[in-house]
Amino acid sequence: MKIEEAKKFHKIDTVVIGAGLAGLGAALEIAKGGGEVAVLTKVYPTRSHSGSAQGGIAASLANVAEDSEEMHMFDTIKGSDYLGDQDVIELFVAEAKKTVYWFEHMGVPFSRTEDGRINQRAFGGHSSPRACFSADITGHVLLHTLYEQCLKHNVHFFNEFQVFSLLIEDDISRGVVAWDIRNGGLHIFHSKALLLATGGYGRAFKITSNAFANTGDSLSLILENGLPLEDMEFVQFHPTGLYKHGILLSEAARGEGAYLTNDKGERFMEKYAPQKMELAPRDVISRAEQTEINEGRGIAGKAYVHLDMRHLGKEKIMERLPQVWELAFNYLEVDGTKAPIPIQPAAHYSMGGIPANIKTEVIKDAAGTVVTGLYAAGEAACLSLHGANRLGTNSVQGAATFGRISGTNILEFIKTVNYPKMVANPLERAQRKIDSFMTNKGKEKHALIREELQENMTGHVGVFRNETDMLKLKKIIKDLLERFKEVSIDDKGSAFNLDLLEAFEVGSLLNFSEVIVEGALARKESRGAHYRTDFPKRDDKKWLKHTLAWKTDKGVKLDFSRNVTIYMDRYPPLERKY
Ligand code: FUM
Repeated sequence: MKIEEAKKFHKIDTVVIGAGLAGLGAALEIAKGGGEVAVLTKVYPTRSHSGSAQGGIAASLANVAEDSEEMHMFDTIKGSDYLGDQDVIELFVAEAKKTVYWFEHMGVPFSRTEDGRINQRAFGGHSSPRACFSADITGHVLLHTLYEQCLKHNVHFFNEFQVFSLLIEDDISRGVVAWDIRNGGLHIFHSKALLLATGGYGRAFKITSNAFANTGDSLSLILENGLPLEDMEFVQFHPTGLYKHGILLSEAARGEGAYLTNDKGERFMEKYAPQKMELAPRDVISRAEQTEINEGRGIAGKAYVHLDMRHLGKEKIMERLPQVWELAFNYLEVDGTKAPIPIQPAAHYSMGGIPANIKTEVIKDAAGTVVTGLYAAGEAACLSLHGANRLGTNSVQGAATFGRISGTNILEFIKTVNYPKMVANPLERAQRKIDSFMTNKGKEKHALIREELQENMTGHVGVFRNETDMLKLKKIIKDLLERFKEVSIDDKGSAFNLDLLEAFEVGSLLNFSEVIVEGALARKESRGAHYRTDFPKRDDKKWLKHTLAWKTDKGVKLDFSRNVTIYMDRYPPLERKY
């Protein structure tokens, strides 16, 4: 069947792709400032994955203990293993507090202290209780509140729209082409500004806390347009993914005092981070768990350890951690008030992404040359806020804060420019992709290719990495990319053609996974979440640099000339101990 020509053409000042905290935060600021904005999202907005970031949002409010922007800044820099850009972090910690009050004034129901202030709990790698929370459903309430406010301020929503191509020519963004999932058919969106806020892409891994939709499509589209990705080798593994499922059991549990134990019943973190114990940063704890498992101290010799919160008592668990309890009960039939919960590291957050500057403008090279009208924020972006390892609750804050900042910058931008000229044949690329899946007679099935990719990414570029495994993986991905050319789909219809969408998503996963592997192979050191057993030390002399990666006809091209912004007089790189 030949898919019909575009039914719709939309001309709108700003298009935002993604309806998580970054996308909605930006859209709200633009709409409140009088700008015209449309949000395109492949899932219904309140199903965006920001909704499952549960434990809290970081800001140095000092409501329950001494804290300061300076302390938040240092913790974030140290957590990043000194790869975070310090100018970005400085802006972040100052704006973080404003963002929390921004949410509070919108009506977010934060949990409160006895005297009525926003309550704050401890989180890994933070030196003060800094996570403002709403029980263990913080992301959920932030997302719903933002969505309501966006509706109130007349943000236009195109729900269940999948972007198939970016319209970029001569380093100027001109809009996008998107597929209407519900009805079928391509739509052209002509815009002055485009914000990519599509969230994370953990679905490249088998065990992941990420939702099915988190397939990194915008990253793949960036590569397709000859633009680079940054620091892709830094993938965070969350220490408490529910065993076998990967579903996130919030770090809030450890923030409230839960233990991690091995098969001998030992609190093994004593060996790895004696001061911080279960509240060390995630890279440290995931490696500790994986070491326990690899050395045979996983529970009953299996690939998991225990999260034990029994000593917190039923009342506290049900008040502060109801979702953690519910997930363990529903998925594993474990009652966390009476028994420890099986957990394992799960791919959770990607520190790398679409390179953008402190104003969230997308850049195309190490010199920081801006692609006009193109912005990125939230997990899809790499502003290098989190460097080599992110601290918990800095992601929700990073998405909301830089979404908000992006909105303000875009508002200024759209006031000063005219619409860029539309490209000559806007539908061509998207149509070609659809036609190729629809007409291909090949024998390959996208689901099998995806499963092989996920299995091998978890196996070969996970918590621990080495050259031998990654060279194997490089070859596997190359073969999968070849096989992907032979993918055909069975559903030839228009409405809710998930066969088509999933085929497209698997293409995205393959494209950026290749970049993760090449970056990880090239970076011959261990830093933050990137741990190489063959190069176990951090090497600031050679590797205190960002990675930029382009896809070319000859393979992935890497560049390490983008420097890290460091305030040498204030935060020089130190050895990281917890
Ligand atoms: O564990 C959590 O609640 C996750 C939060 C985060 O990734 O920041």
